[in-house]
Amino acid sequence: MKETLEKPQQITFDITDRCQMQCITCSKWKTNSIDVIDKELSTEDWKKVLFDLHSWLGEGFWFCFSGGEPFLRPDIFELSDYAHSLGIKIASMTNAFGIQNLYEKIINSHIESLNISLNSINNHNIHDLSRGRNGAYEKALEAITNLKKLRDEKKSNLGINISTIMFPENIDEIIPLVEFVTRNKINGIMFQLLDDKESFHGYNVQTSCNTQNYKMPQNLRNKYFNMSKKAIEVIDKLIEMKRAGHSIYNSFEQLEAMKVFFKNPDDILEEIKCDVGSTNYAIDPYGNVRLCFNMEPVGNVKENKPQEIWESVNAHNCRYLTKSCKMYCRMLNCNFKGNFVNFNKSFITKFKNKILKVFAGKF
Ligand SMILES: C[S@@+](CC[C@H](N)C(=O)[O-])C[C@H]1O[C@@H](n2cnc3c(N)ncnc32)[C@H](O)[C@@H]1O
Ligand code: SF4
Ligand code: SF4
Repeated sequence: MKETLEKPQQITFDITDRCQMQCITCSKWKTNSIDVIDKELSTEDWKKVLFDLHSWLGEGFWFCFSGGEPFLRPDIFELSDYAHSLGIKIASMTNAFGIQNLYEKIINSHIESLNISLNSINNHNIHDLSRGRNGAYEKALEAITNLKKLRDEKKSNLGINISTIMFPENIDEIIPLVEFVTRNKINGIMFQLLDDKESFHGYNVQTSCNTQNYKMPQNLRNKYFNMSKKAIEVIDKLIEMKRAGHSIYNSFEQLEAMKVFFKNPDDILEEIKCDVGSTNYAIDPYGNVRLCFNMEPVGNVKENKPQEIWESVNAHNCRYLTKSCKMYCRMLNCNFKGNFVNFNKSFITKFKNKILKVFAGKF
């Protein structure tokens, strides 16, 4: 029987690989501007993709600008206006390092949800060290404070969220971060497992990973092992806090899965099949489309329409490979089944029934 192909639900535009940070967990910042600036899709190219996506999918998808640092592209505001005119709801990630002159613009823009990366709250050095730049903490905090103040003054609906990677050095910062979010009426926080740096390369240099025979590097395995006991205690506390009403966006299912992961990462490969092939659609700065960001592109929007790429033989083959993949990045927020919906409340309301079905099919 022929399998029915669903439409993608989570669209990401990685509008640039360029970045001004030097994170120790990611090497996108190594992208040399001179090598890529002329290769990135133009404003008009991205608008055309938005138009084609909307013609195909309507408004029923979760949409995010990411990168690299998406605010290094000044046309992010023009693209947001255009997406909004089509009825698309917009989220964006940022390291908040270079947005100090953009607060007004962000508040007045059609971006509905801004996710600021922040890896510590009490110990400033942890964030700065993770981001490889002094002053990163100060700028992120300044952005959160000023955007919130401006949002409240202007009665804007911008959702301000925090995204935090969990790693051994910041494990004692996780609960204080949630308390900070609640105390300061920030919309919410989402925790991300530390993933292999292999997965966080600029797309201009990324060669696809050997997903079928992947072995977790021993140093990463040791990191997980060493933080395991503490991490499980912290996640238990997060579950308790989420039940008590703290705005933690990770689903209960994902938090439980994180505990399983910390007990033994390999169990996850058996327990959770990666679903990116039927949900995710990520377009890199050069127009390449990936369903899985660690596999070869399945097409390019400069050559084909988004729908043709989704229904192509390449996409079909990629979906097949996702089913036997040996990597752990299925645990990442953007890949964990059903998770992305937590970011966008209006999406939840609109697609409640569909989401309930997704959760029901899991665990
Ligand atoms: C690749 S960045 C792009 C957006 C923006 N530059 C930022 O840092 O927010 C998206 C998210 O990935 C996270 N990230 C980076 N390296 C990671 C890793 N090795 N494992 C898990 N998440 C990672 C970042 O902290 C950030 O929240
Ligand atoms: S995680 Fe974000 S801020 Fe850090 S290097 Fe990667 S793209 Fe830049
Ligand atoms: S776990 Fe999923 S997202 Fe990660 S490499 Fe495998 S198929 Fe791709």
